[in-house]
Amino acid sequence: RQAVKVLRSVSARYGLAIELKEALIGGCAYEAEGHPLPPETLALAREADAILFGAEGGFQYETLPRGLRPGDALLTLRRELDLFANYRPVVAWSELADTTIFKPEIVEGVDFVILRELTSDLYFGEPRGIERTADGTRRGINTMSYTEAEIRRIAHAGFRAARSRRGKLCSVDKANVLETMELWREIVNEVGTDYPDVELSHLYIDAAAMALLRTPKAFDVIVTANLFGDILSDEASMLVGSIGMLPSASLNADNKGLFEPVHGCAPDIAGKDIANPLAAVLSVAMMLRLSLGREDAASAIESAVRKVIAEGHGTRDIAKPGKEPIGTEEMGDKIVQALAA
Ligand code: IPM
Ligand code: MG
Repeated sequence: RQAVKVLRSVSARYGLAIELKEALIGGCAYEAEGHPLPPETLALAREADAILFGAEGGFQYETLPRGLRPGDALLTLRRELDLFANYRPVVAWSELADTTIFKPEIVEGVDFVILRELTSDLYFGEPRGIERTADGTRRGINTMSYTEAEIRRIAHAGFRAARSRRGKLCSVDKANVLETMELWREIVNEVGTDYPDVELSHLYIDAAAMALLRTPKAFDVIVTANLFGDILSDEASMLVGSIGMLPSASLNADNKGLFEPVHGCAPDIAGKDIANPLAAVLSVAMMLRLSLGREDAASAIESAVRKVIAEGHGTRDIAKPGKEPIGTEEMGDKIVQALAA
C-alpha cells in the first residue's frame, strides 16, 4: 500500500500516464478465489508493461498442497513470464551505517548487484517430490538443472550489467562438486570472451558467502544460480542494515519486469504497522527506471527515501539507537511529503 501511495504521488508530480490496475495474488487470492494465482491475475500480468508485486502469504497457507501456496503463485509468475534476470542491488546507505552489525569501515561504500537467475535450477528442476522407497520410508527429491541456453542468457546479462557499472563480474557456483555448476562455469567463461573489457572472476558459493561479509566492497556484479542468489541476497541485506531495504527487478528478454522487495512476506509482523515499506518503495523506483524509462521519477523516489532516513526516521528494523521507530504508514507518508518538498 505504501509503494502504491508513493507511485500515485510521483505519477501526479511527474505527469506519468500510468494506468494502474490491481489484481489479487497469494493468500488473499486463495481466500477469494480458491487459487493463489487466478487466471485474471495472470492475464493482467501478461498484458501489463510492468508488475509491482506486493509480498503475499501467511502461516495459515504454508500447509496447503503445493501449487496452492502463495509462494507458488510468485514462482509461476516468474516462470510464465520468463523473468529470468533478477537484479538485487545492495547499496549501503551511509545514513544507516550505525544500524548494521558491521564495523563502519567494512560496509561504508558497499555497492554491488546480485544478479540471480530466476527461472530454473532446483526451484523448477524435474523430477521433484517426496516418494516412498522400497523399504517403506520416504525420500525427497529435487533436481538441479541448467541448460546451456539458460546459463548463456544470464551470463550475458551479467556481463552487460558489469559493463554498465565498474566492469567487474564475479560468477558464483559450486563447480567443484556439481556437474550442473561445472557447465555453468564453462559457459560463463565462454560468454566472457565476448566481453574482454569485463574483469571476470569465479567463486564457489561457500567462499562467496564468506567473502560477501569479509570484503563486500570488492564486489561489483555477482551472477549466480537461483538458489544461491536467494541465499546470498538475504545475507547481503545485513550489510545494508535490514532486508526491509532491498528492492529487486526481475526482467525478461524484452525488459518487461516484475518489481518486488527481496524479502517475500513476513507473516509474523503483518498487519501491525511495523514492517519497513522501503524495499517496496524502492522497487517502484526500479520499475520507473527499468521498465518505464523514467529516470527522473525514479531518482526522485530514491532521493526522498534518502532524505527521510537522513532525518533519522526509521521503522523498527532500521531505527537509530535510542530513537523511537515510526510505523509503516507513517514512513509511506514521510516519503510522499519528501517528494512534495
Ligand atoms: C525471494 C523469496 C522467494 C524465493 C520465496 C518467497 C518463494 O525468498 O524472492 O527471495 O525463494 O525466491
Ligand atoms: Mg529469498
